[in-house]
Amino acid sequence: MILLTGATGNTGRETAKLLAQAGVPFRALIRNPDKAGPLEELGAEVAIGDFGDADALRQALTGVDKVYLVTPNEEQQAQWERQFVELAKDAGVGHVVYLSSMESVPGAKTPVTQAHVATEQQLRESGMAWTMVRPTFFNQLLLAAAKGVKEKNAIVFPLGKGPLVTTDVRDIAAVITLALTQPGHENQSYDITGPDLVTMDEVAAIFTKVLGREIRYVDQPIEDFANILRAIGVNEWRVKAVCDELTEISHGSLTRRTDTIEKLLGRPPISIEQFVQDYRAAFE
Ligand SMILES: NC(=O)c1ccc[n+]([C@@H]2O[C@H](COP(=O)([O-])OP(=O)(O)OC[C@H]3O[C@@H](n4cnc5c(N)ncnc54)[C@H](OP(=O)(O)O)[C@@H]3O)[C@@H](O)[C@H]2O)c1
Repeated sequence: MILLTGATGNTGRETAKLLAQAGVPFRALIRNPDKAGPLEELGAEVAIGDFGDADALRQALTGVDKVYLVTPNEEQQAQWERQFVELAKDAGVGHVVYLSSMESVPGAKTPVTQAHVATEQQLRESGMAWTMVRPTFFNQLLLAAAKGVKEKNAIVFPLGKGPLVTTDVRDIAAVITLALTQPGHENQSYDITGPDLVTMDEVAAIFTKVLGREIRYVDQPIEDFANILRAIGVNEWRVKAVCDELTEISHGSLTRRTDTIEKLLGRPPISIEQFVQDYRAAFE
C-alpha cells in the first residue's frame, strides 16, 4: 500500500489524481475529515491524522510499503518529519519519496531548507530506500498573484529583478508518481526544474502574450508581502519562513536548470507559457 501525506496540498493532490488515473491503490493521510470527499471520489482509502499525533500516524502507516512524505512550512516541520521517518521505519515501510527543494544543500541558512537537509540526511541513514524530489519555486504559487493580474494587470510579488527557474506542480507530481510506482528510483536524488530561466519582467511578458493584454511585474517590498500574510492570519514563524525563502530567491538562489524531468518522464517539462495557458481562467 502507498501512503500519501499532504494529500490535500499542492503536490499531494496532483499525485493523488495521477495514482488514481494509473489505477494504483493508495491511502491518503488528511487531518481534516471535511476534505475527504474529493479523495474518496478518486478511490483513495482515507486515514485521518495530524503530523503531531503519533498514534494516528502509526495507524495510517499500518500495512504501508511506500510513502510520499511532504510537510508544510510550519515551525514544527523538522520535528514532524523526524518523527514521521522514525514511525515509518518502525512500521516496516520500505521506500520514502520525500519532497525537499533544490536550495536545500548542506550549509543552507533558512529554517525550511535546514529542515529539508536534516530530513534528507535522516532518510539516507534510515535503512529505508529513499527518493529525494527537489523542485524549485512552484509555478502554481503565481496563482497568489491572480487578483492583481485580473484587477490591475500586474503581477505583484517580492521576487526581485533577477532570473529564476520555476517548476510546475504537475511535473513534480509526475516524478513523485513515477518514484512510487516504478522500480529504479530507490536512493536517487532528483533536482527538477521547468525549462525557463527568466526574470519576473520576462514572466510578465509571457502573461502579456498568452492573455493578450499588457501585464507588468511589480517587485513588491518584502515587508508589504509579510503584512498581507499577517492580515490573512498567517502565524509569525511562517511569515518569516516564507519571506526568507522569497528573499533568497530574489537574491538569485534558483538559477540552475536541469534536464531531469525530460530524462525521467520522456517529455519536456511544463513551461511557464503552458502554465499560464492552462490556468488562464484564474487570470481573466
Ligand atoms: N512552494 C514552493 O515553491 C516549494 C518549492 C520547493 C519545495 N517546497 C516544499 O514543499 C512543501 C509543501 O508542499 P505542498 O506545497 O505540496 O504542500 P501544501 O500545499 O503546503 O500543503 C500542505 C499539506 O500538508 C497538510 N498538513 C498541514 N498541516 C498538517 C498537519 N498538522 N498534519 C497533517 N497534515 C497537515 C495540509 O493539509 P490541509 O489541507 O488540512 O491544510 C496539506 O495537505 C514544503 O516542505 C516546501 O518546503 C515548496
